[in-house]
Amino acid sequence: MGKGLLVAGIESSCDETAVGILQGDEELLSLVSSQEAQHAPYGGVVPELAARHHLEALPLLWADAMNRTGLKIGDLDGIAVTRGPGLAGALLAGVAFAKGLARAAGKPLVGVNHVLGHLAAVRLLPDAPQPPLLGLVVSGGHTELLWLESWEKARLIGETRDDAAGEALDKGARLLGLGYPGGPQLEALARGSKPSRRLFTLPLTKLPGYDYSFSGLKTALMLKARSLGQEELLQARAELAASYQDVVARHLARQAGRAARELGARVLVAAGGVLANEYLREALAEEMPGGLFVPPRRLCTDNGLMIASLGALRLARGEDDGAGMTVAVNWRADDRAEGLLER
Ligand code: KG4
Ligand code: ZN
Repeated sequence: MGKGLLVAGIESSCDETAVGILQGDEELLSLVSSQEAQHAPYGGVVPELAARHHLEALPLLWADAMNRTGLKIGDLDGIAVTRGPGLAGALLAGVAFAKGLARAAGKPLVGVNHVLGHLAAVRLLPDAPQPPLLGLVVSGGHTELLWLESWEKARLIGETRDDAAGEALDKGARLLGLGYPGGPQLEALARGSKPSRRLFTLPLTKLPGYDYSFSGLKTALMLKARSLGQEELLQARAELAASYQDVVARHLARQAGRAARELGARVLVAAGGVLANEYLREALAEEMPGGLFVPPRRLCTDNGLMIASLGALRLARGEDDGAGMTVAVNWRADDRAEGLLER
Protein backbone atom coordinates (compact mmCIF):
# COMPACT_ATOMS: atom_id res chain seq x y z
CA MET A 1 0.00 0.00 0.00
CA GLY A 2 3.02 2.26 0.39
CA LYS A 3 1.51 4.45 3.09
CA GLY A 4 3.91 3.73 5.89
CA LEU A 5 4.07 0.95 8.43
CA LEU A 6 0.88 -0.82 9.45
CA VAL A 7 1.09 -1.15 13.23
CA ALA A 8 -1.29 -2.39 15.93
CA GLY A 9 -0.99 -0.87 19.40
CA ILE A 10 -2.26 -2.68 22.50
CA GLU A 11 -2.86 -0.92 25.82
CA SER A 12 -3.85 -2.51 29.15
CA SER A 13 -1.85 -0.73 31.85
CA CYS A 14 -4.75 0.45 33.99
CA ASP A 15 -8.52 0.30 33.55
CA GLU A 16 -8.88 0.65 29.79
CA THR A 17 -8.35 -2.17 27.34
CA ALA A 18 -7.51 -0.70 23.95
CA VAL A 19 -6.45 -1.62 20.43
CA GLY A 20 -5.43 0.96 17.83
CA ILE A 21 -4.35 0.46 14.23
CA LEU A 22 -2.11 2.98 12.55
CA GLN A 23 -0.85 3.18 8.99
CA GLY A 24 2.00 5.65 8.77
CA ASP A 25 0.53 8.68 10.56
CA GLU A 26 -3.01 7.78 9.62
CA GLU A 27 -5.50 6.39 12.12
CA LEU A 28 -7.34 3.35 10.78
CA LEU A 29 -9.12 2.44 14.00
CA SER A 30 -9.16 3.03 17.75
CA LEU A 31 -11.18 0.77 20.04
CA VAL A 32 -11.33 1.33 23.79
CA SER A 33 -13.19 -0.80 26.29
CA SER A 34 -13.44 1.05 29.58
CA GLN A 35 -13.83 -0.70 32.92
CA GLU A 36 -15.18 2.39 34.64
CA ALA A 37 -18.48 0.74 35.47
CA GLN A 38 -16.74 -2.28 37.06
CA HIS A 39 -14.57 -0.14 39.34
CA ALA A 40 -17.10 2.59 40.14
CA PRO A 41 -18.65 0.78 43.15
CA TYR A 42 -15.18 0.69 44.78
CA GLY A 43 -14.37 4.37 44.13
CA GLY A 44 -11.10 3.50 42.37
CA VAL A 45 -9.38 0.86 40.24
CA VAL A 46 -9.21 -2.63 41.81
CA PRO A 47 -6.07 -4.26 40.32
CA GLU A 48 -7.32 -7.87 40.30
CA LEU A 49 -10.59 -6.89 38.65
CA ALA A 50 -8.69 -4.85 36.06
CA ALA A 51 -6.44 -7.78 35.12
CA ARG A 52 -9.39 -10.15 34.82
CA HIS A 53 -11.32 -7.73 32.64
CA HIS A 54 -8.32 -7.23 30.32
CA LEU A 55 -8.01 -10.99 29.86
CA GLU A 56 -11.64 -11.16 28.76
CA ALA A 57 -11.66 -7.99 26.68
CA LEU A 58 -8.40 -8.37 24.71
CA PRO A 59 -9.42 -11.23 22.39
CA LEU A 60 -12.84 -9.65 21.81
CA LEU A 61 -11.39 -6.23 20.98
CA TRP A 62 -8.78 -7.77 18.71
CA ALA A 63 -11.37 -9.75 16.77
CA ASP A 64 -13.49 -6.62 16.49
CA ALA A 65 -10.50 -4.60 15.24
CA MET A 66 -9.71 -7.15 12.53
CA ASN A 67 -13.37 -7.34 11.51
CA ARG A 68 -13.88 -3.62 11.26
CA THR A 69 -10.68 -2.91 9.31
CA GLY A 70 -10.89 -6.06 7.19
CA LEU A 71 -7.26 -6.72 8.07
CA LYS A 72 -5.61 -10.00 8.96
CA ILE A 73 -2.75 -10.18 11.39
CA GLY A 74 -0.50 -11.20 8.50
CA ASP A 75 -1.06 -7.75 6.92
CA LEU A 76 0.55 -5.95 9.87
CA ASP A 77 4.19 -4.83 9.92
CA GLY A 78 4.38 -5.22 13.68
CA ILE A 79 2.75 -4.98 17.08
CA ALA A 80 3.41 -2.48 19.88
CA VAL A 81 2.30 -3.06 23.45
CA THR A 82 2.50 -1.13 26.72
CA ARG A 83 5.23 -2.67 28.92
CA GLY A 84 4.81 -0.19 31.76
CA PRO A 85 4.43 1.68 33.97
CA GLY A 86 1.15 0.32 35.27
CA LEU A 87 -0.56 -2.40 37.29
CA ALA A 88 1.41 -5.66 37.13
CA GLY A 89 -1.48 -8.00 36.37
CA ALA A 90 -3.03 -5.59 33.90
CA LEU A 91 0.26 -5.13 32.02
CA LEU A 92 0.88 -8.89 32.01
CA ALA A 93 -2.47 -9.51 30.36
CA GLY A 94 -1.62 -7.15 27.47
CA VAL A 95 1.98 -8.25 27.05
CA ALA A 96 1.07 -11.96 27.09
CA PHE A 97 -1.70 -11.38 24.54
CA ALA A 98 0.59 -9.35 22.27
CA LYS A 99 3.32 -11.97 22.50
CA GLY A 100 0.84 -14.64 21.48
CA LEU A 101 -0.25 -12.65 18.43
CA ALA A 102 3.30 -11.80 17.38
CA ARG A 103 4.47 -15.35 17.78
CA ALA A 104 1.55 -16.90 15.95
CA ALA A 105 2.00 -14.55 12.99
CA GLY A 106 5.79 -14.26 13.04
CA LYS A 107 5.62 -10.48 13.45
CA PRO A 108 7.99 -8.18 15.37
CA LEU A 109 6.82 -7.02 18.79
CA VAL A 110 8.00 -3.90 20.65
CA GLY A 111 7.20 -2.85 24.21
CA VAL A 112 6.76 0.86 24.86
CA ASN A 113 6.47 3.26 27.78
CA HIS A 114 2.92 4.32 28.61
CA VAL A 115 3.81 7.88 29.70
CA LEU A 116 5.82 8.59 26.55
CA GLY A 117 2.99 6.91 24.66
CA HIS A 118 0.57 9.57 25.88
CA LEU A 119 2.75 12.26 24.33
CA ALA A 120 3.28 10.24 21.14
CA ALA A 121 -0.45 10.72 20.46
CA VAL A 122 0.51 14.34 19.66
CA ARG A 123 2.64 13.02 16.75
CA LEU A 124 -0.57 12.16 14.94
CA LEU A 125 -1.77 15.79 14.76
CA PRO A 126 -1.38 17.15 11.21
CA ASP A 127 0.59 20.17 12.46
CA ALA A 128 2.57 18.35 15.18
CA PRO A 129 5.71 20.14 16.37
CA GLN A 130 8.90 18.08 16.42
CA PRO A 131 11.26 17.41 19.38
CA PRO A 132 13.17 18.78 21.20
CA LEU A 133 9.98 19.74 23.05
CA LEU A 134 8.57 20.37 26.47
CA GLY A 135 5.93 17.74 27.31
CA LEU A 136 3.38 17.39 30.10
CA VAL A 137 1.52 14.19 30.97
CA VAL A 138 -1.43 14.56 33.33
CA SER A 139 -3.52 11.50 34.08
CA GLY A 140 -5.04 9.57 36.95
CA GLY A 141 -1.66 8.02 37.73
CA HIS A 142 0.89 10.52 36.39
CA THR A 143 1.82 14.18 36.56
CA GLU A 144 5.13 14.52 34.76
CA LEU A 145 6.88 17.38 33.03
CA LEU A 146 9.39 16.03 30.50
CA TRP A 147 11.99 17.42 28.20
CA LEU A 148 11.66 15.32 25.05
CA GLU A 149 14.93 14.95 23.20
CA SER A 150 12.99 12.74 20.83
CA TRP A 151 9.55 11.11 21.11
CA GLU A 152 11.36 8.13 22.63
CA LYS A 153 13.92 9.76 24.89
CA ALA A 154 12.98 12.08 27.71
CA ARG A 155 14.46 13.84 30.70
CA LEU A 156 12.13 14.14 33.69
CA ILE A 157 12.22 17.74 34.89
CA GLY A 158 9.24 17.83 37.23
CA GLU A 159 6.83 15.39 38.80
CA THR A 160 4.28 15.20 41.56
CA ARG A 161 5.60 14.77 45.06
CA ASP A 162 2.39 13.10 46.23
CA ASP A 163 -0.91 12.57 44.37
CA ALA A 164 -1.27 12.70 40.59
CA ALA A 165 -3.43 15.57 39.36
CA GLY A 166 -6.16 13.24 38.11
CA GLU A 167 -6.18 11.41 41.41
CA ALA A 168 -6.54 14.77 43.21
CA LEU A 169 -9.48 15.67 40.96
CA ASP A 170 -11.09 12.27 41.50
CA LYS A 171 -10.66 12.49 45.29
CA GLY A 172 -11.87 16.10 45.29
CA ALA A 173 -14.94 15.07 43.33
CA ARG A 174 -15.64 12.35 45.86
CA LEU A 175 -15.44 14.87 48.72
CA LEU A 176 -18.09 16.87 46.88
CA GLY A 177 -20.32 13.82 46.61
CA LEU A 178 -19.69 13.10 42.91
CA GLY A 179 -19.16 9.62 41.42
CA TYR A 180 -16.08 7.95 39.96
CA PRO A 181 -14.14 8.94 37.87
CA GLY A 182 -14.69 12.37 39.27
CA GLY A 183 -12.69 14.55 36.85
CA PRO A 184 -15.37 14.95 34.17
CA GLN A 185 -18.16 15.38 36.76
CA LEU A 186 -16.12 17.98 38.62
CA GLU A 187 -15.62 19.88 35.37
CA ALA A 188 -19.36 19.85 34.71
CA LEU A 189 -20.18 21.02 38.26
CA ALA A 190 -17.53 23.76 38.06
CA ARG A 191 -19.29 25.26 35.02
CA GLY A 192 -22.02 26.41 37.40
CA SER A 193 -19.83 28.92 39.25
CA LYS A 194 -16.91 31.30 39.06
CA PRO A 195 -13.78 30.21 40.94
CA SER A 196 -12.91 32.00 44.14
CA ARG A 197 -9.17 32.61 44.54
CA ARG A 198 -9.58 32.99 48.31
CA LEU A 199 -10.36 29.33 48.97
CA PHE A 200 -7.10 27.60 48.02
CA THR A 201 -3.41 28.53 47.96
CA LEU A 202 -1.26 27.75 44.94
CA PRO A 203 1.23 25.01 45.98
CA LEU A 204 5.06 25.14 45.83
CA THR A 205 5.29 28.78 44.71
CA LYS A 206 8.32 29.49 46.86
CA LEU A 207 10.43 26.55 45.71
CA PRO A 208 12.66 26.35 42.65
CA GLY A 209 12.17 23.56 40.15
CA TYR A 210 9.06 22.32 38.40
CA ASP A 211 7.59 19.75 40.78
CA TYR A 212 3.92 19.44 41.61
CA SER A 213 2.02 18.76 44.81
CA PHE A 214 -1.71 18.16 45.15
CA SER A 215 -2.24 16.49 48.52
CA GLY A 216 -2.37 19.81 50.44
CA LEU A 217 -5.15 21.04 48.13
CA LYS A 218 -7.10 17.86 48.68
CA THR A 219 -6.79 18.25 52.46
CA ALA A 220 -7.84 21.91 52.23
CA LEU A 221 -10.94 20.89 50.28
CA MET A 222 -11.72 18.16 52.79
CA LEU A 223 -11.51 20.61 55.70
CA LYS A 224 -13.74 23.12 53.85
CA ALA A 225 -16.30 20.44 53.04
CA ARG A 226 -16.32 19.16 56.64
CA SER A 227 -16.78 22.64 58.06
CA LEU A 228 -20.08 22.98 56.19
CA GLY A 229 -23.44 21.41 57.00
CA GLN A 230 -25.06 19.25 54.33
CA GLU A 231 -27.31 22.04 53.07
CA GLU A 232 -24.45 24.54 53.03
CA LEU A 233 -22.22 22.09 51.20
CA LEU A 234 -24.86 21.57 48.52
CA GLN A 235 -25.08 25.35 48.07
CA ALA A 236 -21.31 25.83 47.97
CA ARG A 237 -20.53 22.77 45.84
CA ALA A 238 -20.25 24.48 42.46
CA GLU A 239 -18.01 27.24 43.79
CA LEU A 240 -15.81 24.71 45.59
CA ALA A 241 -15.55 22.62 42.40
CA ALA A 242 -14.71 25.68 40.27
CA SER A 243 -12.12 26.93 42.76
CA TYR A 244 -10.51 23.51 43.18
CA GLN A 245 -10.33 22.95 39.40
CA ASP A 246 -8.95 26.47 39.03
CA VAL A 247 -6.10 25.98 41.50
CA VAL A 248 -5.21 22.55 40.07
CA ALA A 249 -5.11 24.05 36.55
CA ARG A 250 -3.12 27.11 37.61
CA HIS A 251 -0.60 24.97 39.48
CA LEU A 252 -0.11 22.74 36.42
CA ALA A 253 0.18 25.77 34.14
CA ARG A 254 2.47 27.79 36.39
CA GLN A 255 5.17 25.12 36.68
CA ALA A 256 4.97 24.24 32.97
CA GLY A 257 5.10 27.92 32.00
CA ARG A 258 8.11 28.56 34.20
CA ALA A 259 9.92 25.53 32.78
CA ALA A 260 9.14 26.73 29.26
CA ARG A 261 10.57 30.18 29.93
CA GLU A 262 13.67 28.87 31.67
CA LEU A 263 14.36 26.18 29.07
CA GLY A 264 13.44 28.31 26.08
CA ALA A 265 10.43 26.29 24.88
CA ARG A 266 7.74 28.16 22.94
CA VAL A 267 5.23 25.33 22.65
CA LEU A 268 3.99 22.65 25.01
CA VAL A 269 2.81 19.19 23.99
CA ALA A 270 0.47 17.65 26.53
CA ALA A 271 -1.69 14.55 26.92
CA GLY A 272 -3.25 12.22 29.48
CA GLY A 273 -6.83 11.92 30.65
CA VAL A 274 -6.91 15.20 32.56
CA LEU A 275 -6.15 17.13 29.35
CA ALA A 276 -9.74 16.37 28.40
CA ASN A 277 -10.44 19.26 30.80
CA GLU A 278 -11.20 22.44 28.84
CA TYR A 279 -10.35 24.78 31.70
CA LEU A 280 -6.89 23.20 32.04
CA ARG A 281 -6.26 23.42 28.30
CA GLU A 282 -6.98 27.14 28.39
CA ALA A 283 -4.77 27.72 31.44
CA LEU A 284 -1.86 25.89 29.77
CA ALA A 285 -2.32 27.61 26.40
CA GLU A 286 -2.14 31.02 28.10
CA GLU A 287 1.37 30.22 29.33
CA MET A 288 2.79 29.28 25.94
CA PRO A 289 3.63 31.92 23.32
CA GLY A 290 3.75 29.28 20.56
CA GLY A 291 0.63 27.45 21.72
CA LEU A 292 -0.43 24.16 23.22
CA PHE A 293 -0.60 20.92 21.23
CA VAL A 294 -3.02 18.35 22.63
CA PRO A 295 -4.50 15.27 20.96
CA PRO A 296 -8.26 15.15 20.47
CA ARG A 297 -10.07 14.25 23.71
CA ARG A 298 -10.53 10.54 22.92
CA LEU A 299 -6.75 10.24 22.35
CA CYS A 300 -5.96 12.06 25.62
CA THR A 301 -7.30 9.19 27.71
CA ASP A 302 -5.70 5.76 27.44
CA ASN A 303 -5.90 4.30 23.93
CA GLY A 304 -4.10 1.91 21.60
CA LEU A 305 -3.19 4.43 18.89
CA MET A 306 -0.78 6.30 21.17
CA ILE A 307 1.04 3.02 21.78
CA ALA A 308 1.10 2.25 18.04
CA SER A 309 2.40 5.78 17.38
CA LEU A 310 5.38 5.33 19.71
CA GLY A 311 6.04 1.68 18.80
CA ALA A 312 6.05 2.47 15.09
CA LEU A 313 9.29 4.44 15.56
CA ARG A 314 11.03 1.35 16.91
CA LEU A 315 9.47 -1.01 14.38
CA ALA A 316 10.65 1.30 11.58
CA ARG A 317 14.23 0.69 12.77
CA GLY A 318 13.66 -3.06 12.58
CA GLU A 319 13.63 -3.58 16.34
CA ASP A 320 11.94 -6.59 17.93
CA ASP A 321 11.73 -7.41 21.66
CA GLY A 322 10.33 -10.83 20.85
CA ALA A 323 9.31 -13.50 23.32
CA GLY A 324 11.80 -12.35 25.98
CA MET A 325 9.87 -9.19 26.79
CA THR A 326 8.79 -8.68 30.38
CA VAL A 327 6.52 -6.08 31.95
CA ALA A 328 8.12 -3.01 33.56
CA VAL A 329 5.76 -1.98 36.38
CA ASN A 330 7.76 1.05 37.57
CA TRP A 331 9.30 2.10 34.26
CA ARG A 332 10.00 5.82 34.49
CA ALA A 333 9.74 7.89 31.36
CA ASP A 334 13.42 8.90 31.54
CA ASP A 335 14.75 5.54 32.63
CA ARG A 336 16.49 3.77 29.77
CA ALA A 337 17.57 0.82 31.91
CA GLU A 338 14.15 -0.65 32.45
CA GLY A 339 13.43 0.00 28.82
CA LEU A 340 15.89 -2.67 27.87
CA LEU A 341 15.07 -6.33 27.89
CA GLU A 342 15.29 -8.08 31.20
CA ARG A 343 15.58 -11.78 30.63
O1 KG4 B 1 -5.04 8.93 31.08
P1 KG4 B 1 -6.21 8.37 31.82
O2 KG4 B 1 -7.39 7.94 31.02
O3 KG4 B 1 -5.79 7.14 32.67
C1 KG4 B 1 -4.62 7.05 33.38
O4 KG4 B 1 -3.59 6.63 32.77
O5 KG4 B 1 -4.68 7.42 34.57
O6 KG4 B 1 -6.65 9.48 32.90
C2 KG4 B 1 -7.74 9.32 33.77
C3 KG4 B 1 -7.90 10.56 34.61
C4 KG4 B 1 -8.93 10.42 35.74
O7 KG4 B 1 -8.37 10.91 36.94
C5 KG4 B 1 -10.09 11.29 35.28
O8 KG4 B 1 -10.83 11.84 36.34
C6 KG4 B 1 -9.35 12.36 34.52
O9 KG4 B 1 -8.36 11.67 33.81
N1 KG4 B 1 -10.24 13.09 33.60
C7 KG4 B 1 -10.58 14.40 33.75
C8 KG4 B 1 -11.49 14.71 32.71
N2 KG4 B 1 -11.66 13.58 31.95
C9 KG4 B 1 -10.88 12.61 32.52
N3 KG4 B 1 -10.21 15.30 34.67
C10 KG4 B 1 -10.73 16.53 34.57
N4 KG4 B 1 -11.61 16.91 33.61
C11 KG4 B 1 -12.01 16.04 32.67
N5 KG4 B 1 -12.87 16.41 31.73
ZN1 ZN C 1 -2.60 6.81 30.85
